[in-house]
Amino acid sequence: KTVVTVLGTRPEIIKLSPLIPLLRERFRHILVHSGQHYSFEMDAVFFEELGLPAPDYTLGVGSALHGEQTARMLSRLEPILLETKPDMVLVQGDTNTAMAGGLCAAKLNIPVAHLESGGRSFNRQMPEELNRIILDHIATLLLAADETAERNLLAEGLPPERIRMVGSSVIDAVARNRQHARRSTIVQRLEVTPGDYLVLTLHRSENTTPAVLPGMIRALGELAEEHTIVFLLHPRTAAAMRSYGIVMPRNIRVSEPLGYLDTLCLVEQARALLTDSGGLQEEAGALGTPTLILRNETEWRYLVDAGMHVLVGNTYESILSGARRWLQPAALARLRSAPAPIRTGASERAVAAMVD
Ligand code: UD1
Repeated sequence: KTVVTVLGTRPEIIKLSPLIPLLRERFRHILVHSGQHYSFEMDAVFFEELGLPAPDYTLGVGSALHGEQTARMLSRLEPILLETKPDMVLVQGDTNTAMAGGLCAAKLNIPVAHLESGGRSFNRQMPEELNRIILDHIATLLLAADETAERNLLAEGLPPERIRMVGSSVIDAVARNRQHARRSTIVQRLEVTPGDYLVLTLHRSENTTPAVLPGMIRALGELAEEHTIVFLLHPRTAAAMRSYGIVMPRNIRVSEPLGYLDTLCLVEQARALLTDSGGLQEEAGALGTPTLILRNETEWRYLVDAGMHVLVGNTYESILSGARRWLQPAALARLRSAPAPIRTGASERAVAAMVD
C-alpha cells in the first residue's frame, strides 16, 4: 500500500512527526511539502530537530492570497498523485495545505485520511474552520482527537463507520521530546527566570486584523508592566503590525519564532502561556502550563473543561480583566493543579486505522 502525506506548515510538521516513522514502517511512504511555510525557523528547523526525512516532493507554493495559494497547491500536487498512485493520502489539521491536499486526492478518487478531524470553533469567519469542514466532508477516514470532535462529526451527519477516535498526536510529540527539550538553554539565552515569565504567541487571522490587533497589543503592553512577557513573534503578526503602524510596546521581550525544543522548554518553565495557537494549547496541557487563550472559542475544549486553560477573549478589556483575574497566584495554582486528561498513543492508533 502506498501512502502520500501532504504537509506544509509548522504545526503539521510537528503533529505528523510521530506518525512519519510508523508510516515508513508500514507503507511505501511518500512525503510532499507544499512550501506554505518556507523560512528556516518556520519549517526546516523542525525537520532537523525532529529527525524527519527530507520531503520526496516540494511544491514551493509560498505565501499568497488564499485562492492563489490553494490553486498552486492543487495544480502542483495533482501530477504527483497521478504519478505515484497512492492508495491513501494523509493530511492533518486545518491549514490551506491540508485542505488542498485532501481536495486534490478526493477529486482523483483517492481515499483521504484526516488527522485531527472534527475540531470545530463554530466560527465560519476563520479560514481554518472552512478548511476543516471541507476536509471532513470529503475524507474517508476521520481520525478524531477526542469525544467532542467525534460528536461534531456525527452532528454533521458523517457516517460513524468513517470515524476513529484516536487522540491527539501532538501529545505523542511532546512525550517523545520533553526530556531532550529540558537540555535547551533558551531560558538563559532569553535571560528570564524559570517560573517568573509569561510566553505569548499570536497569529490567527481573526486576531491580526486592523480592528482587533491594536487593542490586543495595547493590553499586552500594559500587562508587561506587571509581568515579564516573552513574545514569540509569528511572521504574519510581524507583517500585520508593520502594515498597521503598530509599535511594539517597549517592555515586551520579542523573539523570533523558536525551534521546537526551545519552545517546549520555554513553555514548560513559564508561569503561564498566552496564546491563540491550537497546537500550543495542547502542548501546554501536556507540559502542565496554565494557558490563557486569546480567543472567544476553542476547538480544544477538553483542557478548558478540565479547568486548566481559560478563554480570555481578544479585546483590550477582556484580556486585561482575564489576565488580572487568572494570573493571581491562587487562581494560577488552581489552574495548574487541574487534572489534565492527557493521553498518548494517538499516532500508533491513527496509523493502525490506516492499515485496516
Ligand atoms: C497557517 C495556517 C494556520 C496555522 C498557522 C501556523 C492556513 C489558512 N493557516 O497560518 O491554520 O495555525 O499556519 O503557523 O493555512 N511567512 C513567512 N515565513 C514562512 C511562512 C509564512 O514569513 O515560513 C509569512 C508570510 O508573509 C505570509 C504570512 O507569514 O504571508 C502568513 O503565512 P500563511 O501561510 O498565510 O499562514 P499562517 O498565518 O502561518
